[in-house]
Amino acid sequence: MRGSILTHAPLDLSGYRAHFPALQMSIGERPQIFFDNPGGTQVPQSVADAMSSYLLTANANIHGAFATSQRTDQIISQAHTAMADLLNAPEPGEIIFGQNMTSLTFALSRSLGRELGAGDEIVVTRLDHDGNIAPWLQLQERGVTIRWTDIDSEDCTLDYDHMGSLIGPRTKLVAVGMASNAVGTINDIRPVVAMARSVGALVFVDAVQAVPHIPVDVQALGCDFLVCSAYKFFGPHQGILWGKRALLEQLHAYKVRPASDELPGKWETGTQSHEGQAGTLAAVTYLQQLGREQLDRYMDDLGSLSDRRRDLRAAMLTIREYEQQLSRHMLQRLKQLPSLRLYGIGDPERVAERVPTFAVVNQHANARKLAQLLADHGIATWSGNYYALALVERLGQAEEGMLRIGLAHYNTEEEIDRCCDLLEQATS
Ligand SMILES: Cc1ncc(COP(=O)(O)O)c(C=O)c1O
Repeated sequence: MRGSILTHAPLDLSGYRAHFPALQMSIGERPQIFFDNPGGTQVPQSVADAMSSYLLTANANIHGAFATSQRTDQIISQAHTAMADLLNAPEPGEIIFGQNMTSLTFALSRSLGRELGAGDEIVVTRLDHDGNIAPWLQLQERGVTIRWTDIDSEDCTLDYDHMGSLIGPRTKLVAVGMASNAVGTINDIRPVVAMARSVGALVFVDAVQAVPHIPVDVQALGCDFLVCSAYKFFGPHQGILWGKRALLEQLHAYKVRPASDELPGKWETGTQSHEGQAGTLAAVTYLQQLGREQLDRYMDDLGSLSDRRRDLRAAMLTIREYEQQLSRHMLQRLKQLPSLRLYGIGDPERVAERVPTFAVVNQHANARKLAQLLADHGIATWSGNYYALALVERLGQAEEGMLRIGLAHYNTEEEIDRCCDLLEQATS
């Protein structure tokens, strides 16, 4: 009863802005607005403090007999556990840190590629960031055939029927994104896993644009691998790969000989960014605190998760609900700007199917010009293809690119209004 009444009250997360020093910055008189979030989010003070504290008081290499090395081992272990909790992974040993999503995916594709050859097929999608396409295209060198899943060009949703028609006995892997970094579409991963499983294929999920916005639960998804990047969810520049233990153990990792054969060390090439892992741990802790403050609202939806997993799920349910409010507002404002064409889901009733990332084009002002105009007024957005190369090509926007307005939970309706007012003036 309590849950159902509260669920209908609008959320206000503006209090969390105080955690982010960058949100207090101004350009002249105007407060800076960050709508560049799909390219990288701002960090809470606690993330910067954790990184600084690591470097100043615990900086060392791993597994030494001395205090700073042992403190490093502790922080690294806590960071793996925190990421396992955020992704609801069965165990921290399945969490692999690396430089970024792209490097981790290239490493894994090289390892998987050793097992593949002529006659094998990999299914990719036109909706994906190139980080989940190029590493698989590389395997054409080994004779692997790449099959491309198309999209509905109106609302930029994945064509699941088309994907189904591509998946067959030769398919060894399906590489799919969980949320688009360009148009915001959330893909339904479970039917993809079901289709792949029916032919014994593996599923690799790019969740870089999902983790900042919605709950991500690798056990519920049923996939084999999943990647994300801490700098998209309020942490530092770090990539994270989760994989099923049996696969990570079985696959050959390209590594130096003295490095561990155990998980996760087998896959964590060279010396890692320990300060990055300390910052990632702090980013997860920030989300955990946010969630703990909202537990009451989502009690009915938290099941029997352990403490931190429960808090993190509550955090992501909170963020999802608040961002759906923001998305509704943005779509209503964009509807009043007919000179801007939105690519992606535009129906305010369908905000549950998208993250708050909006790509628009205007016939007269190109995307870079619009981004420049907004930047001149203190608003950060992106223009171009943001590496969603296959998608902008598919939409016929490869030349000019699209303006991308990407929101996070620290943005507000007032900020959306300021951006849309400026776009209205510039394009009407
Ligand atoms: C959906 C998606 N996948 C992959 C990447 C690449 O991530 P990274 O910069 O960690 O390599 C990005 C970066 O924008 C992205 O948005």
